Amino acid sequence: MDLESHKFMSFFAPEQAAELCKIAIIEKYHSQKVIFEEGEISDFLYLLLAGQVEFRKYKGSNQYQTLTKALPNSFFGELGILDGQPRSAQAIACEDAILAKIPGDKLMEILDRTKGTKVINLFSYMIQRLRESTDDYVKQVVHKEKMVLVGEMLNTIIHDFKSPLSGINLSSGMIKELHPDEETAEWCDLIKAQTHRMTAMAEEFLEFVRGNAVLNKQPFNLGQALQRFEKLNRVYFQEAQVEFVINIGDIVLNADENKLLRVVQNLVGNAVEAFKERGGRVELTAWVSEEGVQIKIKDNGPGIPEVIKNRLFEAFVTHGKHSGTGLGTAIAKSIIEVHGGEIWFQSRCHEGTTFYISLPL
Ligand SMILES: Nc1ncnc2c1ncn2[C@@H]1O[C@H](COP(=O)(O)OP(=O)(O)OP(=O)(O)O)[C@@H](O)[C@H]1O
Ligand SMILES: [Mg+2]
Repeated sequence: MDLESHKFMSFFAPEQAAELCKIAIIEKYHSQKVIFEEGEISDFLYLLLAGQVEFRKYKGSNQYQTLTKALPNSFFGELGILDGQPRSAQAIACEDAILAKIPGDKLMEILDRTKGTKVINLFSYMIQRLRESTDDYVKQVVHKEKMVLVGEMLNTIIHDFKSPLSGINLSSGMIKELHPDEETAEWCDLIKAQTHRMTAMAEEFLEFVRGNAVLNKQPFNLGQALQRFEKLNRVYFQEAQVEFVINIGDIVLNADENKLLRVVQNLVGNAVEAFKERGGRVELTAWVSEEGVQIKIKDNGPGIPEVIKNRLFEAFVTHGKHSGTGLGTAIAKSIIEVHGGEIWFQSRCHEGTTFYISLPL
């Protein structure tokens, strides 16, 4: 965009806007170039004409916490000019950016000659922006606190569940030994597989909350893995009157099998929960395309509630469930993304929902 049509200019009369344009210094910043450091003297106001700028605070040991981002047509650095205080955060170009720099002393002179109503308009705009960024920051902090809390809870749960789970495992092993017929052996193996799944699930939850997912990638046959998944869930599907159909050819995928099955479990589980005892149909289709492996999970349920549609993949977004934590789809997205893949969905009220997953081969 050009400087004359920047939002900041609309707060001034034409002759003052022209004066501002004249004194502005246009500068290009390459991606990752620092515009100003935290603690530096505030000497310029910056109008962003192109690119993006990030504001971050130093946390120590070479780490930064991002506070917010600025987009073209916004301005920043005005508070330091007004109160004479040093910069409260670092500003860095997070992609190639073009900025117009207005010297602080000249800006103060122009403001001095500007009509009161114009100045009030500019100030109310700045206050509104400050409110928005404070709100964003508070949301971020609350989100982080929640994550820490969930992590601590999970740690305790995993710890406390260890001994009852190993008790169940041992007992099923004993039953298998006492009744060495094929059917009992099969059910006992199922018990073992399910307890193993419970610990794996809790540990993956923990990895997600801590943000340190470790991938254990190995080639595996997707069709066979999904057959096992169906078997583990057969009773669950029967009880919920859900018809689960798998359409899949011979696909070998190099990925973390357990984690991918967690994704399928979360998405299929959501569909089953959405049927609310009325039953329904879930169809899982997988095929190989030029881009990689494509997976489609389609249900004929009520559709994703309109109010959460555009925030679905955010953590703690849940709707219409007593015990939903709102982490299922957030975890699914994080697992697909660490695999270098993508996940998205289409959903229509009363018709159903389809999740699409694309994974590189
Ligand atoms: N297939 C679906 N059909 C209808 N609604 C869905 C479907 N999948 C997700 N939703 C809606 O999206 C919300 C968020 O799903 P998500 O899996 O992220 O969290 P959750 O299921 O509420 O909790 P959690 O998975 O942590 O137990 C659900 O509460 C539900 O309202
Ligand atoms: Mg869920």
